[in-house]
Amino acid sequence: MSGWVTVAREEEVPVGGCRLVEVEGTEVALLHLPDGWHAVENLCTHDYAELVTDGHCRLEGAPGREALVCPRHGARFCPRTGRALTPPAYEDLAVFEVRVVEGQVQVRDPRWS
Ligand code: FES
Repeated sequence: MSGWVTVAREEEVPVGGCRLVEVEGTEVALLHLPDGWHAVENLCTHDYAELVTDGHCRLEGAPGREALVCPRHGARFCPRTGRALTPPAYEDLAVFEVRVVEGQVQVRDPRWS
């Protein structure tokens, strides 16, 4: 098994949008940014708030330098690397590989292989 899991069709999430998906019990924040698709674990490392709620996420910053902002206390994360950028979060988010195959958005993690 390749470990790739289809989680959306490309046209379902516009650029600048996000979606919460669940794979093998893991909540994944799927993000469609101008440079492509990215996926991070949907739990803030500060106090476990969900980063995507009700199909919405808070992305701030210029294209290419966006930050994913936690809705609870405002910690900022890089949506591409998962890196914690500002307090009160100090631990990075887990990131997942993403690819698009024939319009299907797929994510992968070694835990799902
Ligand atoms: S729970 Fe995310 S910043 Fe506190």
